[in-house]
Amino acid sequence: MIVLGIETSCDDTAAAVVEHGIAGAGARPRLRANVVAAQDVHREFGGVVPELASRAHLDLLPGAVERALAEAGLGFAEVDGIAVTRTPGLLGSLLVGVSYAKALALALDRPFVGVNHIEAHLLAPLLEGAVLELPAVGAVVSGGHSEIFLVHAIGTYSIVGTTRDDAIGEAFDKVAKLLGLGFPGGPVIDRLAARGDPDRHPLPRGMAASGDLDLSYSGLKSAARRLVEGPAGAALRADAASAEAERFRVDVCASFQVAAVDPLLGKLETAARRYGARSLVVGGGVACNSRLRAGLVALGARLGVPAFRPSPALCADNAAMIALVGGFRLARGERDGYDLEPVPGLEESGLASAGTPL
Ligand code: KG4
Ligand code: ZN
Repeated sequence: MIVLGIETSCDDTAAAVVEHGIAGAGARPRLRANVVAAQDVHREFGGVVPELASRAHLDLLPGAVERALAEAGLGFAEVDGIAVTRTPGLLGSLLVGVSYAKALALALDRPFVGVNHIEAHLLAPLLEGAVLELPAVGAVVSGGHSEIFLVHAIGTYSIVGTTRDDAIGEAFDKVAKLLGLGFPGGPVIDRLAARGDPDRHPLPRGMAASGDLDLSYSGLKSAARRLVEGPAGAALRADAASAEAERFRVDVCASFQVAAVDPLLGKLETAARRYGARSLVVGGGVACNSRLRAGLVALGARLGVPAFRPSPALCADNAAMIALVGGFRLARGERDGYDLEPVPGLEESGLASAGTPL
C-alpha cells in the first residue's frame, strides 16, 4: 500500500511517500520519499507568522507533493491512500493540508485519514526499524511542544508531564535571538555550546526539583535575558565581532543548553522509573539536540532499555511520520469523511484519552 503523507501544521510544507507492507503485521513500513520545503518568509521576523505560513503552504504544497512522488518514482495513480496532519497546529496552516488532501482524495477516488502530529513524532523511529517495547516513555520537544508521554500501546497515550509556560524550542529560539544568532536558533546554540563552558554562567533549571513531571522555561528565558543585557554582556554590545564577545556567546550557549536540557532528561528518568518504561523515545525539532541525544542514550544504558532518537530529518517536522501513522489506520480499513476538520489545540486533539490501539 502506497501512502502519500502531507504535513502543513506549522512552517514546514512537507510531503512524503511510505510503502506499507502487505505481507502481514511483521512487514516494516518503507520510506520511499521525504520532501520538506522550509518556508523562508519567517526568518526576517524571528518567528513563525501564522498568516504568512498558510499562504506559503498554498504556494509550496503542490510542488512538494509532485517532488515526493517523483523521488519515489511513482505517479498519482499509484497512490493507495492519503494521510494528512489534522491536529494540533496553526488552524490556517492545517486547513491548507486538510483541504488539499480531501481534494486529492476526491480526484483520485482514494481514502484519506487525518493524523495527530504529536503521535506521529512519537512513532517516527518505526520508520528506521525501531521496535518500540511497551510501555514506552517519550518526549515531544519542539518550538511549540514540550510534553512527556507514556505510550501504553500504539494508539493509546497519556500525557504525564508538560511545560507550565513556554516550549523548550521557543526558549532556544529566544536566547539565540538575544545573542544575535538568527532563527531558528536551536541548531546554532547547539553548535556554539560545544565550544563553551557550561559552568561559566549558572542559569536556573526550571522545575528540576518539583517532584512532578512538569517543565518550565520562562524563568530560564528571563534569566538568560538578564545575563545578556547585564554587565556580563557588555563585550557583546561593544563589538559583537570581538574575541571577548565570541567567548561570552559560546559560554552562554553552553550554560543555557545544560539548564534547558538537563531538567528534561531528569523528568524522563523519573517517568521511566515510575512507569517501568521498556523503551525511550524523543521526537520534535529539539530532539536533534546533541546534549539531549547523548543524554538519552546514557539514560537508556543506565536503565537497560533501548533509547530511540530518529535521524534529524525525522525529528523535525516531516510528512513521512504522517504517512507512517496514517498508513497503520488505512491498513485497518479506517477512513475519514469529507467533513473532517482541523483541530488546532493539543487538548482537543484526543491524544491523551484512551484511543483504539492500532
Ligand atoms: O519540530 P520542529 O521542526 O517544528 C516545530 O516547532 O513544530 O522544531 C523546531 C524547533 C525550533 O525551536 C528549533 O530551534 C529547535 O526545534 N531545534 C533545536 C535543534 N534543532 C532544532 N533545538 C536545540 N538543538 C538543536 N540541535
Ligand atoms: Zn512537530
